[in-house]
Amino acid sequence: MVAHLHAFVRDTEPTIAEWERAIGFLTAAGQKCDHERQEFVLLSDVLGISMLVETINNRKTSGATESTVLGPFHMVTSPRRALGDSIDLVGTGPQCVLEGRVLSAGGTPLPGAELDVWQANDQGFYDVQQPGVQPAGNGRGLFTAGQDGAYWFRTIVPTYYPIPTDGPVGTLLEATKRHPYRPAHIHFIVTAPGHRPLTTHIFVAGSPYIESDAVFAVKKSLITEFTPVDDLALAARYGLTGPFQLANFDIVLQPES
Ligand code: BEZ
Ligand code: FE
Repeated sequence: MVAHLHAFVRDTEPTIAEWERAIGFLTAAGQKCDHERQEFVLLSDVLGISMLVETINNRKTSGATESTVLGPFHMVTSPRRALGDSIDLVGTGPQCVLEGRVLSAGGTPLPGAELDVWQANDQGFYDVQQPGVQPAGNGRGLFTAGQDGAYWFRTIVPTYYPIPTDGPVGTLLEATKRHPYRPAHIHFIVTAPGHRPLTTHIFVAGSPYIESDAVFAVKKSLITEFTPVDDLALAARYGLTGPFQLANFDIVLQPES
């Protein structure tokens, strides 16, 4: 790293003022950090470093589902929920059902696989960003896949949202004329015995910013159609009373080598 840094400095020949500006930026990033906010990870995210490290460490063979970044809003203790429960505790936003199966790379279903899911509300905020506004655990759930590896739950269609811009990373984005938005997505961590844990998202097909994620985390294979359903009999089968959107996403885990 030092050799690369020296090469960068020789290449760009910064002035003393520019060097001081760089030190000032890093100092401000450090000062923005506390036990909840990690501005250096956010910096790594917007520079595409997090995504590169994630991808290097999760090279997939054999058709396993691709990984993507964890992001700063994962809580270790998502509330445990039963298959079919809703993770939306508020009742705002277009309703949707997400269903699929958890499989091993060879196609064997993985009953008992654990799925930790979390997403922002219809305004683009996670529960932890709005304590006192959203109930704790809104948009989160810990599910166990059923007999045939199947899972399903109800939620709202997520929306795109901006990453936090009230720190030096926001200043950096503005200075480089970059927008701060992430396309609509739902986060997953999926685990099963004998398999590598998977940290990923599903992205809503057609979402704004799907081609220009501020943290470079979109992989084509993770883009999922959310299909509008007007059939009220089908809605009733999912415990819903009106039109909804239906998304299907199978998750394939890589066996531990
Ligand atoms: C997120 O998706 O939660 C996220 C990821 C990287 C930076 C900020 C937010
Ligand atoms: Fe997110």
